[in-house]
Amino acid sequence: ASTPGAAAAEVPAQAAVQTISKNVTILYGSQTGNAQGLAQAGGKTLKEKGFEVTVASMNDFKPNQLKKIQNLLIVVSTHGEGDPPDNALSLHEFLHGKRAPKLEDLNYSVLSLGDSSYEFFCQTGKEFDSKLEELGGKRLHPRVDCDLDYDEPAAEWLEGVINGLLGLQGSDASVPDSSAATPAAVTNYSRTNPFHAEILESINLNGRGSNKETTHIELSLEGSGLSFEPGDSLGIYPNNDPALADLIISEMNWAPDEMVTVNKQGDVRSLKDALTSFYEITVLTKPLLEQAAQITGCQDLKELLSPGREAELKEYLTGRDLLDLLRDFGPWAVPAQEILSVLRKIPARLYSIASSLAANPDEVHVTIGAVRYESHGRARNGVCSILCAERLQPGDSLPVYIQPNQNFKLPANPETPIIMVGPGTGIAPFRSFMQEREEKEAEGKSWLFFGDQHFVTDFLYQTEWQKWMKDGLLTKMDVAFSRDTKEKVYVQHRMLERSRELFNWLQEGAAVYVCGDERNMAHDVHNALLEIIQKEGGLSQEKAEEYLAQMQQDKRYQRDVY
Ligand code: 2AM
Repeated sequence: ASTPGAAAAEVPAQAAVQTISKNVTILYGSQTGNAQGLAQAGGKTLKEKGFEVTVASMNDFKPNQLKKIQNLLIVVSTHGEGDPPDNALSLHEFLHGKRAPKLEDLNYSVLSLGDSSYEFFCQTGKEFDSKLEELGGKRLHPRVDCDLDYDEPAAEWLEGVINGLLGLQGSDASVPDSSAATPAAVTNYSRTNPFHAEILESINLNGRGSNKETTHIELSLEGSGLSFEPGDSLGIYPNNDPALADLIISEMNWAPDEMVTVNKQGDVRSLKDALTSFYEITVLTKPLLEQAAQITGCQDLKELLSPGREAELKEYLTGRDLLDLLRDFGPWAVPAQEILSVLRKIPARLYSIASSLAANPDEVHVTIGAVRYESHGRARNGVCSILCAERLQPGDSLPVYIQPNQNFKLPANPETPIIMVGPGTGIAPFRSFMQEREEKEAEGKSWLFFGDQHFVTDFLYQTEWQKWMKDGLLTKMDVAFSRDTKEKVYVQHRMLERSRELFNWLQEGAAVYVCGDERNMAHDVHNALLEIIQKEGGLSQEKAEEYLAQMQQDKRYQRDVY
């Protein structure tokens, strides 16, 4: 491949400008790995176009280098209620703080990922975008906000960015295309081309009488070429409940056999099949309502969307689905195809992988908690979890892909002690960790904190943990069964009870992993860690926060939360 540097040496005067503007830094902030994947793929494309590219996690980037960068691309997702991903926190804070530098020489563009069913859609990307502008940066290309189905808008953004970069180099700057040098991929399967994995085994891990139903599923990856590491996730494309599709069809007086087009390529399916296998029908978003109002001209819906009624709209969108919308505002006399055109594609669900490929070659295991609840007078089901719990059995198959997660990785050194905090289905990746450490004969100490409602029915993978304890692979195990005693006990209470020893482990260099519910558990566990560090380390609150932030920076505090 020809190197841009070689050409530059021959024409020094002009080359200086061109060489500099060929350098592109891509920083990503990613919780589940989507932004990271896009950043890396974008980096590869830019390299093929002859740019000098550096791709890094925001976390690994020294903010004092910002002033040296000419072309910056930010790919960042939004998490929870408009929050930055863990590995974007430090840069986000730096840019919004007093030490943020003037960036008048910076060209930049932001690609932001989000989910339009959340109020603060793409908030973090918006914040980076406006902050960089405020600091003096110039946009190479306008920010693009992506919804769940991000592939197309992301590709368009990249194209726009490349044109922007070429524009900066002057119109006659020809960038060599070295795409021929790309190595062949080991697998053809990916998020956009999922592998149909056969279900080998499916069991409910909870005992009779439990409030929970947790499906342990083992899938075959044989012949897929797919591989993964402990900490990675499995993406699963589910189908909707056919009974819900039927209700929608009859509510609208449509015909289930009517043929409809399901994508831009013009693929045709029956309406029933389209609503079951292609479109999201269980979530309402503001853009969906806006487009529905436009198509149908529905006056009541337009009113709900009018200025001043934001709080009401937010309330309406919460816990309702397409059937509610059609019942509350329809039925409308519009063709099915028009309503389909405003629906999103069914997004994949991500599950932390519960097995190690070294221990179970050609297989992948996941731990799926059944989601059932009632809202607005109707029983509701989690799409993927109930599909797996109720409608699938061994022999059936599921479209899957591997979602790498670099933010949740075993320490490189097998001797590093690990502390694992994973109540409920948060246990999943730790089963993978232990299987891997067993297979690789890792010597490091390990400590599990697990919690769930009842010891008798809800101790997920109990016999496996007990065996690992007996064999000495697992050094310590503390469990918290919240509904076996009068007073609730949670994992963080167990951590606080073991405060001294836990801090000793931290001082010995242990890495802490937290997996599971974010809003309640992970938040409380975070505070418990701060309390432990403060108390046992004799530190102020501020110093304890620094200690934990440093651990996060050193990848010794990693979270896989949802
Ligand atoms: P609960 O449902 O009895 O309140 C796994 O779901 C376990 O996590 C359950 O025992 C659940 O307890 C517990 N849990 C609920 N909220 C929690 C929190 N804030 N911190 C830690 N564990 C929590």
